[in-house]
Amino acid sequence: MEFSIKNSNPEKQPSDCVIVGVYESSVLSTAARAIDDASAGYISNILKRGDMDGKLDSSLMLHNVPGTASERVLLVGLGKEADFTDKQYAKAVRASVKALASGGASNVSSFLADLSVCSLSTRRKVALLAEVMLDASYKFDAIKKKSDDIKKEAKKGLATISINVAEAADMQTAQLGLADGQALAKGVSLAKDLGNLPPNVCTPTYLAEQALAMGATYGFAVEVLERDALEKLGMGSFLGVTQGSEEPPKFIIMQHLKGQKDQKPVVLVGKGITFDTGGISLKPGSEMDEMKYDMCGAASVLGTFKTIAEMDLALNVVALIPTCENMPDGRATRPGDVLTSMSGLTIEVLNTDAEGRLILCDALTYAERFEPSAVVDIATLTGACVIALGHHASGLFSNNDDLAKELLQAGEASLDRAWHMPMWDDYQPLLDSNFADMANIGGRAGGSITAACFLSRFAKKYEWAHLDVAGTAWKSGKEKGGTGRPVPLLTEFLVARANKS
Ligand code: BES
Ligand code: MN
Ligand code: ZN
Repeated sequence: MEFSIKNSNPEKQPSDCVIVGVYESSVLSTAARAIDDASAGYISNILKRGDMDGKLDSSLMLHNVPGTASERVLLVGLGKEADFTDKQYAKAVRASVKALASGGASNVSSFLADLSVCSLSTRRKVALLAEVMLDASYKFDAIKKKSDDIKKEAKKGLATISINVAEAADMQTAQLGLADGQALAKGVSLAKDLGNLPPNVCTPTYLAEQALAMGATYGFAVEVLERDALEKLGMGSFLGVTQGSEEPPKFIIMQHLKGQKDQKPVVLVGKGITFDTGGISLKPGSEMDEMKYDMCGAASVLGTFKTIAEMDLALNVVALIPTCENMPDGRATRPGDVLTSMSGLTIEVLNTDAEGRLILCDALTYAERFEPSAVVDIATLTGACVIALGHHASGLFSNNDDLAKELLQAGEASLDRAWHMPMWDDYQPLLDSNFADMANIGGRAGGSITAACFLSRFAKKYEWAHLDVAGTAWKSGKEKGGTGRPVPLLTEFLVARANKS
């Protein structure tokens, strides 16, 4: 898909399809009005007949509209003009891609970025348009046999898209927006791909190879620690999770150091369980395949690194990815086993299915050596978070309210929202153990909170936040697939930090 920036008249634009917006109550956008004027009221007539009501998520394809240079005109519903915010805008852009998916138009010209969206700059509008169009046209057929049907489908999609802006003077800032959107889409797409790959392909070794390849492409440092190095570091908690698996564990370290030399880095930590069977505390069989997505925290960190590398973001950012499988086996950790973490704190494993926190806690201890300005971990950590928040918001926990606010705001701005959950000390005693410094579970009640409380014990030396993305990182059912979340939130957070520094 190739994008370009234009400033032209919709009726004079020769293309397969011109995309224009229509609000509810037959209010035409500027571009729709231009086509209406050129076609002697063609669009107004259609609206009068009631064939298009301008509701959000609706669209109508018109062919051979008189007085226009384009083969087709796609009317996209925008909803009520007064309610037209960034969220509605993104929905309308998505609807335009959906409407084009089944048709023959491949070279299109969108006038949606030309709309005024409350408080959005041209740069942001163009970025969002590119991001959403790329997100909505994402396909995962890398591992399907290349049948003629698939080849035909692949050829069909959108090829070129010109994004029109209202003023010629806006074209330069629109170019910047296009670059932002494309960089973000690359990271989101990578995160989706890694999540969607089957667990026999996307192993810890595979993730490490991807990180190394990315470092070589973009020129940032990548180091992969093997089992013996983890033993030397004393990562007994992480090693306890991996010991039932034939796949070797990896600890991936990536360093994007494009900020000032003395600037303390932001450290991102991603949970990289490439398959979570639950271990000896085996999960039930239904939908267990979805536990291939248990590395989506890691995938989002890799995706974000791709994006900030594309942007050449002026900030110091370090990524830590502990990655392994959680398998049952003769050597696997048993419920009742006590593990000694890198911090020295001992952990009674009461449930081997609460393994994410066990690999993350050692990574959080490792993070101390970078003297971070903030540490954010991202993990598909608990089913309880899905029960609490559903699939719309990621759970946000933090030991610092300012950091929490920053992340919440980044989520709002990027339409990749999080919700601040409590992490009061009252919950900490639920992790008490008779035999070790703590247990690895706190019971069913408040399960996402006690998981965060567990992590907080290893994050006392710095400002830290935890994103539980169990409900947001992938979709189940008919649309099963990775979402690429929270790459948009993380990117926004880092960009805002870079702009401040
Ligand atoms: N990876 C799962 C969390 C998960 C479950 C994410 C379902 C998305 C959907 C995690 O490792 C896990 O198994 N957590 C347990 C914790 C429990 C044993 C305290 C859970 O949520 O049930
Ligand atoms: Mn688990
Ligand atoms: Zn897990």
